[in-house]
Amino acid sequence: MQNSSTILVILGATGDLARRKLLPGLFQLVCQGRLPTNFQVVGMARSQYSDDQYRELMWQEVQELSGPAARNKDWNAFARRLHYVRGNLQDLESFMGLRARLEDLETQTPSAHRLFYLAVAPDLFPVAVENLRYAGLAVEDTGWRRVVIEKPFGHDLNSAEQLDRLVHQVFREEQVYRIDHYLGKETVQNLMVFRFANAIFEPLWNRNYVDNVQISATEEVSVGDRAGYYDQSGVIRDMVQNHLLQLLTLVAMEPPSSMDADSLRNNKVETLRAIRRWDMAQAAQNSVLGQYQGYLDETGVAPDSRTATFAALRLYIDNWRWQGVPFYLRTGKSMQEKVTQIAIQFRQPPHLMFAGATGARLNSNLLFLRLQPDEGVHLKFEVKAPGQGMTTRSEDLEFHYGSAFKDQIIPEAYERLLQDALEGDTSLFIRNDHILEAWRIVEPLIKESEDAAAGSVQPYDAGSWGPEASKGLLARNGHMWQETTGSQRVGTRPCI
Ligand code: BG6
Repeated sequence: MQNSSTILVILGATGDLARRKLLPGLFQLVCQGRLPTNFQVVGMARSQYSDDQYRELMWQEVQELSGPAARNKDWNAFARRLHYVRGNLQDLESFMGLRARLEDLETQTPSAHRLFYLAVAPDLFPVAVENLRYAGLAVEDTGWRRVVIEKPFGHDLNSAEQLDRLVHQVFREEQVYRIDHYLGKETVQNLMVFRFANAIFEPLWNRNYVDNVQISATEEVSVGDRAGYYDQSGVIRDMVQNHLLQLLTLVAMEPPSSMDADSLRNNKVETLRAIRRWDMAQAAQNSVLGQYQGYLDETGVAPDSRTATFAALRLYIDNWRWQGVPFYLRTGKSMQEKVTQIAIQFRQPPHLMFAGATGARLNSNLLFLRLQPDEGVHLKFEVKAPGQGMTTRSEDLEFHYGSAFKDQIIPEAYERLLQDALEGDTSLFIRNDHILEAWRIVEPLIKESEDAAAGSVQPYDAGSWGPEASKGLLARNGHMWQETTGSQRVGTRPCI
């Protein structure tokens, strides 16, 4: 008999997230021996499957993602830990059935921990949380109980507050793990290492040296088969309120005194609080929204939809470090390239002494933190071009994860996040005050974009960099969007 068991319960066990991210992520953790001993997974969904049928279904997914070499003793060992319960989230009886199954699996262990993962549509979060409560599944009698809640947490400030109240009737804040998968990305965590493990950058990381900051997460893909969800959500809720504001806080926050969850999360929330607030008119002046041509033809999109699939924003952070420095955010679907990166543009040298330098002035130094693909760091600086005179040229100092860590594959975000939730580390999860603050920031923009009279969503060509006006947003401050070029790519993750 072992002393304790840990069960991960996946509600929505046959959905896209479970199949494409959670199960493959768990399998990688199994392969690397990073899961607790006596660990099991119980999936619940509406379809009728036996345990074996569910294992086979998950195997098909893992095989597709990890390649045919994956089926080995690791998979067989993992499959034995997978179980399935048929159930409907709206139905308390299903949760009673789930409870019976969990107790059955836990009979051999005096202490039993349970992590509930809500991998379901957001409108089902409230009923799932309530039924966990009514079925007695949230009671910490035999071990800890935790809940992982996917994004989006709420549809706006009001619904996020309501959901938060409901969740807190059932779970204490430290039991709640709100996910933003960007925080699980290695390169996003590297933002903190880059800033706080290198003494040379921090002295420059402020309004005295930084001219502007650009955070881009552009995607080539269209909304595809997610149009039903996306048309209700739009780019602000889908990407800006969560992923982009997360990146902004990591770039702009004050150095925390330690990496413990509270220090880190306090500083992030403090940064959000300092973001200058807009009314609807200011939201319009400081943003450009777009919709790609062809969006209205996607299945599941309303024929007269005004949902934005592109957004560019100019934000200011009113504190000593960043006063007056524009932070530009840009994200969209059906764009020219998939690139997630942060560009820090430094101020120009104060005095031009080289006659013949490029144009009438020197280029600014640029630092690119490239999050995906071709993960790495680039620093652009000026060099003297060979020959007479003092002509200068911009050159690149580059670091690529792909070549620096040749034998290592960058882990998927969900691997890290699942392991942290099982180990009780909340640092990379979002606290409730952060979520609510992020909604407060974007709410005027959402209202502005949904205001039928405003007509503010501009068309753009699929495969472009978005509406032309997004260049104008920067040009007003004498800036332009900065691009990196990168060709080295890191491969997909095989199971070892
Ligand atoms: C998700 C959004 O949260 O993030 C998607 O719902 C988006 O619309 C995705 O495509 C982007 O994630 P990544 O990891 O591919 O940058």
